[in-house]
Amino acid sequence: MRLKDRVALITGAGRGIGRATALRFAAEGARVAVNDVDEEAGREAVAAIEQAGGEAIFVPADVTDRAQVEAMVNHVVGRWGRLDILINNAGITRDALAVRVKGDEVHLMEEGAWDAVIDVNLKGTFLCAQAAAVPMIRRQYGKIVNTASIGMLGNVGQANYSASKAGVVGLTRTLALELARYGINVNCIAPGAVETRMTAAIPEKIKEGLLRRIPFRRMAAPEEVAALHLFLASDEAAYITGQVIFIDGGMSVGL
Ligand SMILES: NC(=O)c1ccc[n+]([C@@H]2O[C@H](COP(=O)([O-])OP(=O)(O)OC[C@H]3O[C@@H](n4cnc5c(N)ncnc54)[C@H](O)[C@@H]3O)[C@@H](O)[C@H]2O)c1
Repeated sequence: MRLKDRVALITGAGRGIGRATALRFAAEGARVAVNDVDEEAGREAVAAIEQAGGEAIFVPADVTDRAQVEAMVNHVVGRWGRLDILINNAGITRDALAVRVKGDEVHLMEEGAWDAVIDVNLKGTFLCAQAAAVPMIRRQYGKIVNTASIGMLGNVGQANYSASKAGVVGLTRTLALELARYGINVNCIAPGAVETRMTAAIPEKIKEGLLRRIPFRRMAAPEEVAALHLFLASDEAAYITGQVIFIDGGMSVGL
């Protein structure tokens, strides 16, 4: 068991990559706090962990809300006495071209789509990292893993998402510098295409083109991303900090 007795908080763990990571961490001996804004999904993930013999609680919170985030972290620490691992996974997309011209009309990406994506993906990551760092500093131990995306390199229709994920990289590198003195590692994963609800929405034709750009010619299973989370959250990654690890079947290579 690679996370025996560790306490982990995983945001957006009701489905997709977060859920797979929560299940894997529990199987590796961690006590897992499953966060999500979707209560039904979050409770289902907890039930799945318990059914497999693991220990988990559901901690509802919107990661964009500082008061809710702090209450969530306090709840986890109150319950299990500490917080060792934070997986900042919650994320959303709201795709649209920044500027689209159709005939005589010019359409702009709505400000709301920009704000929502920056809020969840970037501010949410910042707020959760800040709140989690407090109990981690107390014990001079912590692992924070943030979530960027291959989209940070630039992707048509994702100005908001790309900017949010590029921001997560800057945040990761800065927090790595600031928190190293307290024994906290801060790293970041950058997935390519993963089989989750997020990619299920991609139209078939676009998906075909996407698969052609992946050297492995397939998307990742969420469990494959969970394995990277496990490595970065474990003591095997003790000397790694401030890094961005692509997990993309080779898609970013040669770009
Ligand atoms: N699926 C992919 O191909 C892919 C690729 C690159 C990066 N990512 C990133 O991986 C992460 C997980 O993606 P996924 O594909 O598993 O997505 P998903 O949509 O399957 O799951 C995301 C979860 O986050 C939750 N969530 C959304 N807003 C929240 C908020 N404000 N507070 C708390 N929870 C919230 C959702 O309810 C959902 O359960 C995201 O950060 C995403 O940007 C995914």
